[in-house]
Formats: sequence, C-alpha cells, structure tokens
Amino acid sequence: MISPPVTPPLRRRDIVFDFSAKIPLHWLGGHCHRTRFYDAMSIMFPEGERAFIESVQHYRGRIRGDASLDRTVKEFIAQEALHGREHVRYNRHLREQGAPVERLERRVAGQQAFARRYLAPAVRLSITVCLEHFTAMFAEEMLSEPRSLDGAHPSMADIWLWHALEETEHKAVAFDVFQAVIAGSFRRYALRCSAMLFVTPIFFSLLWRMTFELIRHDGRATDLRGWGALLHDRLVGNGSLVRMLPQWCAWFRPGFHPLQRDSRALIERFNQRFNERFDGGGDSADRRSDADS
Ligand SMILES: [Fe+2]
Ligand SMILES: [Fe+2]
Repeated sequence: MISPPVTPPLRRRDIVFDFSAKIPLHWLGGHCHRTRFYDAMSIMFPEGERAFIESVQHYRGRIRGDASLDRTVKEFIAQEALHGREHVRYNRHLREQGAPVERLERRVAGQQAFARRYLAPAVRLSITVCLEHFTAMFAEEMLSEPRSLDGAHPSMADIWLWHALEETEHKAVAFDVFQAVIAGSFRRYALRCSAMLFVTPIFFSLLWRMTFELIRHDGRATDLRGWGALLHDRLVGNGSLVRMLPQWCAWFRPGFHPLQRDSRALIERFNQRFNERFDGGGDSADRRSDADS
C-alpha cells in the first residue's frame, strides 16, 4: 500500500501587517464590490480560525503517539493563530473606517456557537477539514493567478498572499488528523462528503450575504456595473469559483488526499517573495519581534 504524502515542516512567519489610515476604503483598485468580497472573508476568519484550532486541538491527545503529525499540528495551530491575530487587526481597521463589522462578526459567532453546542466533535472536525479544503482552493487560485489582486494596496496584497501561502502549506494537516482519529474508512468518507455538501451552501450564502451588506453600507447595492464586475471575477475570471470546481469535485474521490495536488512550486515562489520582502525588514510589514522591540 502506498503511504500518503507528508506535509513538510511548516514555517511560522510572525508578520505584523500595516493597516494604517493611508489604506483607501476600496483598496482593490478603488473597486467597492471587489474589495468588499475580500473584506467579508476577512470578517469570517477570526472566528473560523478559532474553530479550526479548537476542532483539531480536541483530538490532540489521540495523535500524541505520532510525533511527526503532533509536531505538524502544533505548527498548524501556530500559523492559524497568527492568521486570526492579523485578521482581527484587519477587521479593526475596517471598523475604524466605518464598516458594520461588529454586526457581521456576531453573525459568524452565532454560527460557531451553534456548532459548539449541537455538533459532535467528529462532525466539527469534518467541517474544519472541508473549510480547509475551501481555503486551500481559494489560496491556490490566488497564488497562481495573482492578477486577481491587481490594483490592490501593497499592504492588503501582502496579507492575502501571506495567508494564501500558509493555507497552501498546511492544507493537509487537518485532513491527516481526521484520517488518524476517525475510525473506519467508509465512515470517514461518508462524514467528509456529507460535511462538504452541508458546508458548501452555508459558507457561500454567508460570504455573499456579508459581501452584500458591506456593499449596501457603502451605498452601492444598486450599482449593477460593480456587481457585474465582481460576478465576472468570481464566476469566470482569475481566481473564480468555476476554476475551483474541479478541486471541489476531487474531494468526493474515495482516495482523495490534499497533497495529491502538488503545490510545492507555488509555495517555493511565494516563500522566496516573503523571505526577500520581510526577512530584511520590509516597508509595509515587520516581524513581531521588530514591532515589539
Ligand atoms: Fe488561516
Ligand atoms: Fe488553514
């Protein structure tokens, strides 16, 4: 039997991004609708990252015997915690610009509270595994088609590419935990496939509702040209949902594993970009140690 590929050591890039007042409200080329799609995702992230960490952490005791997986999980948690921290700062910046962030955050928190209260740990882990597949799909599209960020303010492009890089790096970690702790191959398959069918409409309806509310708050809900551009981007353009469809379908293959799709070249390319940009103390972001000193 061929053993599944293994996640290489994960790198912890403790970067503090610049969300200063000089960033324009519509930081993606001055385009309200395109900007607000990303901003809505950012508002979802802090609660989402916390739920990912909790659902994996719950099973930590069961994987202690696998030192390699346990170490990778520790690195995964460190990366997700940093993502959560930076998206909290991003969202604070949105709030300072007047966006109705608290109301939207409460909606995401309400969903998470429901999941914590009513869903079994195995179901929550299967949802995490599905959402990690989503973030990996988005991330790979963003890294392979960086034109989707054309016109972005450099600080905002940085945080999205940094997050995409790390999501691509750790795309298999939650999946490997799921494989290790959920007994029975048929049960695992049934659980992850049904979770994907459950999660997909909920995730996209929440994301688009939040995007709409941010755009409405900007007074642009009836701007059909803006909507047309966003829908074109998201349905057929660079980084679009249609381009992600084959990866979404791949999830339903019985032998699916996230690392069957080789992303090492992409990771290497963006790793170099961040090494060059940040290891020397870049102009739009700094390491935490620099910021704290
Ligand atoms: Fe993340
Ligand atoms: Fe992740």
